Amino acid sequence: MSEPHKDLLQIEDLNKDEIESILAAAQPFKELFKRSVKKVPTLQGKTVLSLFYEPSTRTSSSFEVAANRLSADFTSLAVASSSVVKGETVLDTVDTLGAMRADYIVIRHKKAGIPNLVAEHTDASVINAGDGFHAHPTQALLDASTLYDVFGKLDFSGKKILIVGDILHSRVARSTSRIMTMLGAEVRVLGPGTLVPPGRPDKMKKFKNYEEAMDWKPDVVYLLRVQFERQGEQFFPSSGEYHSVYGLNEERFNKIKDEGVWVMHPGPVNRGVELADSVTTYDRCLINRQVENGIATRMAVLYWLKPQTFQQDG
Ligand code: CP
Repeated sequence: MSEPHKDLLQIEDLNKDEIESILAAAQPFKELFKRSVKKVPTLQGKTVLSLFYEPSTRTSSSFEVAANRLSADFTSLAVASSSVVKGETVLDTVDTLGAMRADYIVIRHKKAGIPNLVAEHTDASVINAGDGFHAHPTQALLDASTLYDVFGKLDFSGKKILIVGDILHSRVARSTSRIMTMLGAEVRVLGPGTLVPPGRPDKMKKFKNYEEAMDWKPDVVYLLRVQFERQGEQFFPSSGEYHSVYGLNEERFNKIKDEGVWVMHPGPVNRGVELADSVTTYDRCLINRQVENGIATRMAVLYWLKPQTFQQDG
């Protein structure tokens, strides 16, 4: 039996039963989207506040759609045109917005640990929408939800997942490798030596090159975005060089198609760097499915968390 959780800050805070319970809760929401009316009254009268201090398309919009489909009121602070630009701290902003009595705060920040700090400061449920290199728990949950659809079960034992790219700067690699391992999959990595740190999460094994990695016969190749904006220095000679050594180019893609390997990427994609254009139309490319499952998974997270503000109702 697990305790109710106020916040979702990192996958490490969840046990396997809790992960399975969130992923199971997402399934009926996926069915809901096939109906003409895609809305349920579950969170009517509740407020979701979103604070994105870093750019986002998928995460921010899917939280908005998820909140709307649960009938919650959704407010997004336009950080770039707020008092944040005048130097207001995150905690002062949260205090100021506290007057709105938000039940949930969804936050993305370039500094690791900011969502944890905010969670200690408010009764609202805080959901980490990505903090620095640290964590992106809802991305991990939606990735697992997507493989649940593909494999038909939540036990990923015997499945092999190859993560390719910039492990060093990737909160996605950290969170997604963790959840896949917890669900029983074996996860290994491939990437430039400069971007694959020796102290890898869960001590994941590293391949020397693509050929060695493909000989391992992965079920899934998970391509990470090259995070140019986080790389203060140059970690590899050029984008072209990265594509030729680590990218899913036409030659590697042909092998992947022949072997029926699933392809994932959290987005946004750098076309011609992590993958060739043709990969996006491959029938086992799950990129759009990941985005679609982001909505149901985030609805499940909002439904599953227990903000302390709810208890004040009673
Ligand atoms: N995968 C992901 O976090 O995408 P956004 O940056 O567009 O939210």
